[in-house]
Amino acid sequence: MPLFMSLLLVLAIASTAAAGPLDAPGAPQALVCSACHGFAGQSQSNTMPIIAGIAPAYFKKAIQDYAAGKRSSPEMEPYAKMVLQFGVDDVAAYFAAQARTPSPIKVDPAAAERGRAAAVQCTLCHGPSGKGDPSKGVPDLTGQPPGYLRNQMLLFKADRRSPGDEQLKAVKALMRTISDEQIADLAAYWSSVR
Ligand code: HEC
Ligand code: HEC
Repeated sequence: MPLFMSLLLVLAIASTAAAGPLDAPGAPQALVCSACHGFAGQSQSNTMPIIAGIAPAYFKKAIQDYAAGKRSSPEMEPYAKMVLQFGVDDVAAYFAAQARTPSPIKVDPAAAERGRAAAVQCTLCHGPSGKGDPSKGVPDLTGQPPGYLRNQMLLFKADRRSPGDEQLKAVKALMRTISDEQIADLAAYWSSVR
């Protein structure tokens, strides 16, 4: 091989080696999140949400709400403040770019089947497939861990998530009409949707 070609090869190898997984803006700041949310936001737990593939505007609102204590979470508050300090846009872009894999947590098929019948009332905002509407700040419910979905619905029902938020009046009023048992069924259903 002529010398200039070997040099090109060396350069090519060197430049791919330099483009490591931590080179994307936001990636170094996102490492600390993996302790709870899993590597690249791919939560393996029943209570921690998957944040891989999250819509940037929804992500930013969540971070601001945790930092301000509107979404009260002792776990999230310090990290939300840290993200705001480091630059929320880079971290939002990093997680938005990660492919989302559904939660590995298994749901009871009978609960999911019961939830399916009640789920039509969610599709008005979350869409027929439950994938949400980023332009309206409505999140994707599909494949999220069932425990997380259930907890958040109970928080809406008790007006403990973003209390006083005018935009969330309708969803909270709806949750108040749904029994806690049916909330668990709905969580199982949306978690199982692919
Ligand atoms: C100590 C554990 C822990 C760490 C570390 C952590 N989180 Fe969280 N996160 C949680 C918990 C618990 C919740 C759910 C809280 C609630 O609303 O009840 C959550 C919720 C979220 C949500 C809301 C998701 C949704 O669907 O509404 C976002 C966004 C988020 N975290 C981003 C981050 C980012 C970014 C980092 C790293 C900078 C991070 N978290 C670090 C525990 C953690
Ligand atoms: C009127 C519109 C509307 C309807 C109807 C609605 N939602 Fe939502 N939902 C929203 C919006 C908007 C949010 C984002 C809240 C925020 O900004 O913090 C949300 C958030 C959620 C979340 C939190 C997700 C996360 O990642 O933290 C869950 C869980 C949820 N909805 C479940 C449901 C279920 C189940 C139904 C049907 C029984 C339903 N919603 C019906 C508008 C709606």
